[in-house]
Amino acid sequence: MPRRIGAWLVGARGGLATTTLVGARAIARGRASLEHLPLERPPYTALQLMPVADIVFGGCDLRQGSLVEAGLEIAAVNRSLDPRLVDDLRDDLTAIDADIGTGIGANFGRAIEALVGRDVVVAAMRPTLRERIATVEAALDAFVARHRLDDVVVVNLASTEPPLELDDDHRSLARLDALLDRSDEPKVRSSLLYAYAAVSRGHPFVNFTPSNAAVVPAILELAARRGAPIAGSDGKTGETLVKTALAPMFRDRALRVLSWQGYNILGDRDGRILSDSENLSAKVRSKDQSLASILGYRPHSHVGIDFVPSLDDLKTAWDHIHFEGFLGHRMTMQFIWQGCDSILAAPLVLDLIRLADVAHRRGEAGPMRHTASFFKSPIGCDQHDFHAQIAMLQAYAAAASAAGGSRA
Ligand SMILES: NC(=O)c1ccc[n+]([C@@H]2O[C@H](COP(=O)([O-])OP(=O)(O)OC[C@H]3O[C@@H](n4cnc5c(N)ncnc54)[C@H](O)[C@@H]3O)[C@@H](O)[C@H]2O)c1
Repeated sequence: MPRRIGAWLVGARGGLATTTLVGARAIARGRASLEHLPLERPPYTALQLMPVADIVFGGCDLRQGSLVEAGLEIAAVNRSLDPRLVDDLRDDLTAIDADIGTGIGANFGRAIEALVGRDVVVAAMRPTLRERIATVEAALDAFVARHRLDDVVVVNLASTEPPLELDDDHRSLARLDALLDRSDEPKVRSSLLYAYAAVSRGHPFVNFTPSNAAVVPAILELAARRGAPIAGSDGKTGETLVKTALAPMFRDRALRVLSWQGYNILGDRDGRILSDSENLSAKVRSKDQSLASILGYRPHSHVGIDFVPSLDDLKTAWDHIHFEGFLGHRMTMQFIWQGCDSILAAPLVLDLIRLADVAHRRGEAGPMRHTASFFKSPIGCDQHDFHAQIAMLQAYAAAASAAGGSRA
C-alpha cells in the first residue's frame, strides 16, 4: 500500500493557501506542470518525494465562503489564477472544502480582528486554551481517520501575527504547559496553539509565516519528545531571496557594502495586515537579519514595507545598494523585483510538505535545517547565504541517496 499523506493548512482559504490548492489539483489533473517546483530535478529526485497529486488536503480558516469563491476572487482581482481553471477544478476544490473547518485562535491583535471580524474572533477564542488545542487535535485525528492517512503535515499559512514577547514561560515545556493550564491568553498567539496541537500529535509542522509565536523553544522541546520535524519561519520568496543570493557576491568580490536600502510595496490581505505597525514589526524583524550574517558586518540598512491596495499580490521591491571598491571608489547597484507573491510561494509550500514527509519517514525530529533556503528566518540555522543553504539541501539529498532513497 503506498503511504497516504495529508497536508492540513491553517489559513486554508487565504491567498497563498488557495493558490497552493488550485496548483496542486491542477497538477493532479494534468492541467499544470511540475517544472516550477524546485525539487523536481536532480539531485532531489533521490529523496523520492511523494507525488503532489497524492497529497490529501484539509485545514481550517476563520474566513467563510468556499475555495472556489476564494480562487475566483484571486482570478478577478489579481489575475494570477485562470478563472476557467478554478471552475474546471470545482469538484476537487469543493471536496477539499469539506475538510476545512473553523479555526481557533488567541490574542489576535487588532489587524487580524479587523480583517476577520469581532464576532469571529470572539467565537475562535472560546473556551480555554487547552480546549482550543484539543479542538485542533480532534480535527487532525478526524482528518487522519476520514482519509486513512499515514501522516499529516500541518502548515501555517495564516495571517501574520504581531510578534510575541518571549520570556521564561516559553523556554521550557513545563513552563509552557503551566501557562496553558492557567489559560494565560496574553502569553500565546493562535500560531502557538496550532503548533502545539500538531506537534503533540507527533505531526510535522511548517511555519511559512513570520509569526514568531509558532515555534518558541518549548515547542521545539515538545517536537523533540514527540519525534516531530519542524520547518520555518517566513517563506523566502521575493526581496530577501534576491538579497541573500546577491550579498555573497559583494562579500566574495571584496566589495564593501556601505548601505542597503530596501522598499517594498504590496496590496491584498497580507499587505493590509502588514499595514498595522504591530504586525509589520514581525515581518521587518524577519527580513532585516540576513545581511549582517552574510557580510560579516552590519552596513547601514533599512527595510520599508508599505500597503498599496491597487497592487494586490504583485509585490514590488526597490533595493538601492551603495558599495565601495578598490581605492575607495564608490558605486551603486539597484534592482526592482516585481513578483507575484503567491505564485512564488505556492511551489515552496508543496515542496516543504513533501520534505517534511521525508524527514518524518527518516525518523528526524526538530528543526529541518536543510530547508533553510526556503525561509527568511531558518529555525535552528544561522546560515542566510542562499547558495550555502542550497548546498545544505543538496548534501541532505546526497546523504538520503547514499542511505538508499528517503528511507533511513
Ligand atoms: N510569498 C508569499 O505569499 C509569502 C511569503 C512569505 C510569507 N508569507 C506569509 O504567509 C501568510 C499567508 O499569506 P496570504 O497572502 O495567503 O495571506 P491571506 O491574508 O490571504 O490569508 C491568511 C488567511 O489566514 C486566515 N487566518 C487568520 N487567522 C487565523 C486563525 N487563527 N486560524 C485560521 N485561519 C486564520 C485568514 O482568515 C486568511 O484567510 C502570511 O503570514 C504571509 O506573511 C507569504
